[in-house]
Amino acid sequence: MGKLQDKVAVITGGVSGIGAASATLFAAEGAKLVLVDMNQELGDRFIEELKGQGGDAVFVKADVTNEADVQNVFDTAKSQFGKVDILFNNAGIGSVKPTEELTYAEWRRTVEVDLDAVFLNAQFAIKEFLQNGGGVIVNTASMYGWVGSPGSAAYNAAKGGVINLTRSLGLEYAERNIRVNALCPGFIETPILGDTDREFLTNATPMKRLGQPEEMAKAALFLASDDSSFMTGNSLIVDGGYTAQ
Ligand SMILES: NC(=O)c1ccc[n+]([C@@H]2O[C@H](COP(=O)([O-])OP(=O)(O)OC[C@H]3O[C@@H](n4cnc5c(N)ncnc54)[C@H](O)[C@@H]3O)[C@@H](O)[C@H]2O)c1
Repeated sequence: MGKLQDKVAVITGGVSGIGAASATLFAAEGAKLVLVDMNQELGDRFIEELKGQGGDAVFVKADVTNEADVQNVFDTAKSQFGKVDILFNNAGIGSVKPTEELTYAEWRRTVEVDLDAVFLNAQFAIKEFLQNGGGVIVNTASMYGWVGSPGSAAYNAAKGGVINLTRSLGLEYAERNIRVNALCPGFIETPILGDTDREFLTNATPMKRLGQPEEMAKAALFLASDDSSFMTGNSLIVDGGYTAQ
């Protein structure tokens, strides 16, 4: 029996990078999946791949910052699978620009996707979980929620916000069988890195390599499953040693 046997998991940003690797692993562990992303083409392609491997999954095109879209995600989860047990709040965008050049609109969109939407999706999930006797939320933050870096003020502020939102929600629902934890990746080889110099990222990492999405998926599985049954309001930092420096 899989670690997520018959659990229904909503994964945002679920068709690329960390989300896609997690979808593959969660499906192998018996979960039914609702994969959410703005990228329809990627979604269609990935869902076929997953189904080809025997996965039970649907794709919902949605902007995680849009309330009506999120409502549709949870409605679809319920109509397709009857319930939601797990929310992996993982969609995100990067923002790398010197602060003096960052527009207020760019700041606001970064915080909207990387922090506001984590709250919005969590709120929908919590309402479900309260009716169903419990559930699990995993929020993807970042090692940059723990430490700063030049040129990423909006992203780092949003990810720091996710870590404290996670603490607060974990405490708020600790007695109601809803666990909330954050995954804090280091540099992981996914499309979000764009054309960032890989040699620079490798050298900045004590283990002298980038992380792989599959390594994040294993950490996400730990947080989403009963393997982490006594953990809430906390973070798991998986960064090749970066924040230990
Ligand atoms: N890759 C890294 O080095 C790294 C490090 C720390 C944290 N993270 C975080 O991991 C998470 C996953 O990123 P990834 O590395 O897999 O990158 P990725 O770009 O492969 O995946 C992110 C996905 O989120 C989707 N997305 C973005 N905005 C959206 C929106 N408004 N609505 C719906 N979907 C949206 C994108 O279309 C994309 O498919 C993000 O939250 C990111 O900040 C990544």
